[in-house]
Amino acid sequence: MEEGILTKTKLLSLVLCALLTCTHSADTISANQTIRNGETIVSPQQTFELGFFKPGNSTNRYYVGIWYKKISTGTVVWVANRNTPLTTTSGELTLTPHGLMVLRTAAGNIVWSSANSSTPAARNLVARLLDTGNLIIHDQHSVDQENPIWQSFDFPTDGLLPGMKLGQDLVTGIERHFTSWKSADDPSAGEFSAWLDTRGYPQVILKEGQQIKFRAGPWNGLRFSGEPDLRPNPIYNFHFVLNSKEIYYQYNLIDTSVVTRVVLQPNGRMERLLWINSRQEWIVYLTPETDNCDRYAMCRSFGSCNIDNSPACDCLEGFEPTAPEQWTVADWSQGCRYRTPLDCGPGEGFKKYTNLKLPDTQWSRFNLTMNHEGCERVCKSNCSCTAYTSVNISGPGSGCLLWFGDLIDIRTFAENGDDLYIRLPPSELDSTENSESSSGGRRARVIVPVATVILVILVSICLFYRSRRKTRKREGRKFIPNMYDHNIRVLLVLSNKGVYIISGWPGSHGDEFGHDRENNSGEEDLELPLFGLSTLLKATNNFSINNILGEGGFGPVYKGVLENGQEIAVKRLAKTSTQGLHEFKNEVISISKLQHRNLVKLLGCCIEGAEKMLIYEYMPNKGLDSFIFDKTRSKLLDWPVRFHIIDGIARGLLYLHRDSRLRIIHRDLKVSNILLDSNMNPKISDFGMARSFGRNQIEANTNRVVGTYGYMAPEYAGHGIFSIKSDVYSFGVLVLEIVCGEKNRGFFHKEHSNNLIGHAWGLHKEGRSLQLVAKCLVESINLSQVLRSIHVGLLCVQRHPEDRPTMTSVILMLGSEGPLPSPKEPGFFIGKTSENTRYSSSTFETSSTNELSITTLNGR
Ligand SMILES: *[C@@H]1O[C@H](CO)[C@@H](O)[C@H](O)[C@H]1NC(C)=O
Repeated sequence: MEEGILTKTKLLSLVLCALLTCTHSADTISANQTIRNGETIVSPQQTFELGFFKPGNSTNRYYVGIWYKKISTGTVVWVANRNTPLTTTSGELTLTPHGLMVLRTAAGNIVWSSANSSTPAARNLVARLLDTGNLIIHDQHSVDQENPIWQSFDFPTDGLLPGMKLGQDLVTGIERHFTSWKSADDPSAGEFSAWLDTRGYPQVILKEGQQIKFRAGPWNGLRFSGEPDLRPNPIYNFHFVLNSKEIYYQYNLIDTSVVTRVVLQPNGRMERLLWINSRQEWIVYLTPETDNCDRYAMCRSFGSCNIDNSPACDCLEGFEPTAPEQWTVADWSQGCRYRTPLDCGPGEGFKKYTNLKLPDTQWSRFNLTMNHEGCERVCKSNCSCTAYTSVNISGPGSGCLLWFGDLIDIRTFAENGDDLYIRLPPSELDSTENSESSSGGRRARVIVPVATVILVILVSICLFYRSRRKTRKREGRKFIPNMYDHNIRVLLVLSNKGVYIISGWPGSHGDEFGHDRENNSGEEDLELPLFGLSTLLKATNNFSINNILGEGGFGPVYKGVLENGQEIAVKRLAKTSTQGLHEFKNEVISISKLQHRNLVKLLGCCIEGAEKMLIYEYMPNKGLDSFIFDKTRSKLLDWPVRFHIIDGIARGLLYLHRDSRLRIIHRDLKVSNILLDSNMNPKISDFGMARSFGRNQIEANTNRVVGTYGYMAPEYAGHGIFSIKSDVYSFGVLVLEIVCGEKNRGFFHKEHSNNLIGHAWGLHKEGRSLQLVAKCLVESINLSQVLRSIHVGLLCVQRHPEDRPTMTSVILMLGSEGPLPSPKEPGFFIGKTSENTRYSSSTFETSSTNELSITTLNGR
């Protein structure tokens, strides 16, 4: 008997064990089944897990929730009883036969239940955890998981998972919104919440308490108006559904291997997070709220916020500050009003405003089928209609969106904004050229002063250029290095035995270049082909003005075509002194012998009479700077191309540092010195500053610092110490610039005064590196490569040269998937002179503001 009981107990515990504690394979809770603390169910692909948890450092507060099964940090995405925690570990989660999930305390008190479902008892109900993170209650035998009896996705907690909806089900009346946790340790409802506001045309809003804090704008068919970053991309796409049954916004993953979620943080920040497996952390992919102009209604009625302006608020054209005195001291609380009030007269019309974030749509009405003309007519016919535009701007545009009353929360952008047609009185319409209602007489009155203004501008431009040309000439004579053009710095010298390519500029002293003298291998090393002047005259069409590729302080660069069809670039140089220059020849001739696919190739030179020219292979795509810093052209460089360029530069540099016969330090690596061939292969150019290094030499010192601000390593800029690691530093800056599409020097951020390196470092520390990525890259981005590149870039710009990797490891790190060391604080060197200024400590003689910083820097 006793034996029998034991066996029974054992069996029972085995069954229980199989059902609950010991296996984690179950993805369902069946009717009458109970889950207790320590027990979980797991979705089929092991993506999500449901069970009891205790958040962070909280004491004695237990919740039922859903979290990522595979993510080490145990990120909770949904909480059942967020406002009614259990205070002991002894809660029970049960599915009732009526299809209700119920959470009870040990004493049997219900602290949470899924819904007041009136579903008749069905035999086969189960609660199932799906791999989307959705917990559904449905009939086990029904294949229809789309319309369950209940689903957790209808009750988002503090954010959205892919496939969740934000908005209303007009049939069931369910309104899906989400609310921040109170704090990282407390999932109860915090101050901030996100909604789909459907009072007018639907828009996503973020509220702090009852106040709107931020408006992500209405969906315009392409993106959320005024939020250039909220638009389809390679990772997820947006769905906006508006019909008689439901109104919602949703995003879905395109690449389902990506783990991403939107979360409203306890501090009110809406963030899109991406899980980066290699780093085992969440990073912020984007935050829709980025600057002051995103503060709701910052500039009030008819005001427009432009973050590029200072102060940021301005009245829309045709409007003036309601309280001018307050307005001038940046108190915008009274907003703007019509310069001439509307009276609903027949002359009133609409003026088109472009590149705006559309105003708050809670006072709007819409018609999805009406066209533009109909829209204007309807707006005009109702005196309280203040503005209109198309609902959907994709393609030719469609639908009609009308505003009534004041227009609030408008931003102005440089590009990618929306058009808005605002009702104005006749007098305001006159001042616009394309107004239909202005009479000829009025137009003349406007045109005369405009013409005068244009004339004055033209004359000033001419005067400016004339004076500039004069300055240039004068400076050319004095050889001020600031006028230096990056493409034209290599000079040729003819000595008794051969042609030498000389670094530096006229008047420079060659002393620092002479350190390698002992390696002098003599003039017989010269292997540079000589071109005849007549050949080049022919190739360049007699140095035709039409062939000029660029103009520099020392003469133009011409494009030429040789008789065999080969395209060349000819740098035609000015005369120079030969004094002391022969000391460099060994090093320089060596440079002419460098051969690598990522170095620009010097084809030869030409010395005839006063003419001294260098002939290079022609690079049809010119400098990298002409791409990445150019709004339009930067779009041509998608991420794969950029990565290819980064990799190529790294290889070219590695060749210089390690593989070439002499170790060469370039010393002036920068974006404009990277040329692109027709296949977008990068070629390092401009060896005018380069130094050769002995095999065993680690670093050298110079009292003449040459280079370009923004790219110089701190030890070089400050103390003249250079090594291959100072090139690595410049390479790091280059990488960050290529990823970011912004210059290190001249970088501007509204929240801090760091340069690009400082900005990148700050974002990296916060795990927000992806925010660095150039806007134009969003569509072609390879996440791990981008993050890796930024990481490597930061390793390269570390303050201490010994911490920086060699180019060998840089190439390894860029090409592998392995873990990377953490970068230490970067060395920022923020110079004071204007951007692109080259400087040399040997040239103090001229007194312009540009030289001042050189004195302070090297005058010790
Ligand atoms: C103008 O539009 C408003 C807002 O929709 C509406 O309440 C009002 O009746 C309209 N007036 C006329 C004359 O149609």
